[in-house]
Amino acid sequence: MNWADRNIVVTGASSGIGLRVAELLVEGGARIIALDRSPPPLAVAAHVKVDLGDPDSIDAAVAALGEGPLHGLCNIAGVPQMAGDEAVCRVNYLGLRHLTLHLLPRLVRGAGIVNLSSTAGYGWRDRAGLLWELAQVEDWREAEAWIAAHPVMFEDAYDRFKEALVVWTQAVASGWFLRHGVRMNCVSPGPVQTPIFEDFTRVFGKGNVEDILARTGRVPKPDDIAPPVLFLLDDASRWIVGVDLPTEGGLSASRFASGMRRSRA
Ligand SMILES: NC(=O)c1ccc[n+]([C@@H]2O[C@H](COP(=O)([O-])OP(=O)(O)OC[C@H]3O[C@@H](n4cnc5c(N)ncnc54)[C@H](O)[C@@H]3O)[C@@H](O)[C@H]2O)c1
Repeated sequence: MNWADRNIVVTGASSGIGLRVAELLVEGGARIIALDRSPPPLAVAAHVKVDLGDPDSIDAAVAALGEGPLHGLCNIAGVPQMAGDEAVCRVNYLGLRHLTLHLLPRLVRGAGIVNLSSTAGYGWRDRAGLLWELAQVEDWREAEAWIAAHPVMFEDAYDRFKEALVVWTQAVASGWFLRHGVRMNCVSPGPVQTPIFEDFTRVFGKGNVEDILARTGRVPKPDDIAPPVLFLLDDASRWIVGVDLPTEGGLSASRFASGMRRSRA
């Protein structure tokens, strides 16, 4: 893929999956604008320090980006459940939406937006109506009030806000595609070998993670997840809009096959 002269914003570019995405894009010639609370360990066109859990900090970061077209946005920054319910809600959902809504007018036709969700968000269908309602509440403060009035959002907050991210993506993606020519999709990995892997193991339980590994064969690395992110950013995926791409080594297929075998036994 040729990324020469394309300006791509990558959040979470300082570690894990976001870092690998940024590395691949830089190798392809892109100008990366890294939005992260920490400086990235690679040479990028610009690093804008931001707290994605704080709307004022996001507004300041958007202003600091300056003028000029953007050709892509990778929303990869995220915190694990161990960071606490509030941080999970603000960084993984409210902040991601706030940043995306503010950058949308800067994205050129043909640009892609890729949101890092998770297999933890697979349960979105069980709460689709509720999460659809939240997706309609665009304003940060009003969304916070809506969330405070729905305590279910803080039962397994990490899962709930990944579910909410998948629903929001579907809620707005087709309209943005028609009006702005910008595509938005999600990528959903299972556990990945990054600094937050240990937190995931603690929260989801060792048994659960061991079951996932037995079904998929190994713990994937950021390098297993980054190429699908680049694909969804690229024109090669120009007819893919509003999907959640499972990137989990056959986990869903394995669970489906086990369930079918059990039901036929
Ligand atoms: N690692 C996994 O097992 C796994 C599995 C599924 C989904 N994910 C998702 O993938 C994404 C990336 O995770 P990772 O494993 O690469 O994590 P990571 O900890 O390696 O990287 C997260 C990045 O986000 C940045 N960040 C966190 N909070 C921030 C804030 N408030 N403001 C600005 N930057 C902030 C960090 O500085 C870091 O660079 C996350 O959205 C995560 O939920 C991870």
